[in-house]
Amino acid sequence: MKRVAILISGGGSNMVALVDSMTGDHPARPVLVLSNVPGAGGLERAAERGIATAVVDHRPFGTDREAFEARLTGALETARPDIICLAGFMRILTPAFTGRWSGRMLNIHPSLLPKYPGLHTHARAIAAGDADAGCSVHEVTAELDGGPVLGQARVPVMPGDTPETLAARVLVQEHALYPAVLRRFAMGDRTPVHLP
Ligand code: GAR
Repeated sequence: MKRVAILISGGGSNMVALVDSMTGDHPARPVLVLSNVPGAGGLERAAERGIATAVVDHRPFGTDREAFEARLTGALETARPDIICLAGFMRILTPAFTGRWSGRMLNIHPSLLPKYPGLHTHARAIAAGDADAGCSVHEVTAELDGGPVLGQARVPVMPGDTPETLAARVLVQEHALYPAVLRRFAMGDRTPVHLP
């Protein structure tokens, strides 16, 4: 059974989708939900599901990313994860940290990568007049939102969409895509998933 740690910064809806998928014959189980934001809504949702939780607040470390990540690594090593899922974890990671977990760390990003790495993805898709938007799950490498894509889901951009209405449509697909990719990845299969 593969051990999965999930890193969050917010409400944790993707974390919930991942946790709730890891039952029955699924090859993985959640062992830790960790947030860099004390009081993040997802922590309570994880605890309700009986998952161990931890907080490593980034703020006391200021600009010292290495010191923050050293604490993060300490918390993760205690949980001995085989796989780390970033699920709305809003910290940029150093090459040392991404290298440490190379081949074992996944992220979900709300765009059809390689389009729109970084922030404000939905506003950028609307401003560009794109017919489609979506989300991607990828392996985490030193390049921000740049690792190999393991799955994508596509949604139409509708007339009158705002970043918020488009984000809501994409989020529904995120909740289907991330569990589908994790299941495959936990079985050692990196064949990309395409939804719908
Ligand atoms: C999700 O839309 C996720 O794709 C995005 O943050 C949201 C987290 O929601 N991630 C990023 O923007 C990463 N750069 P959640 O906390 O409800 O899962």
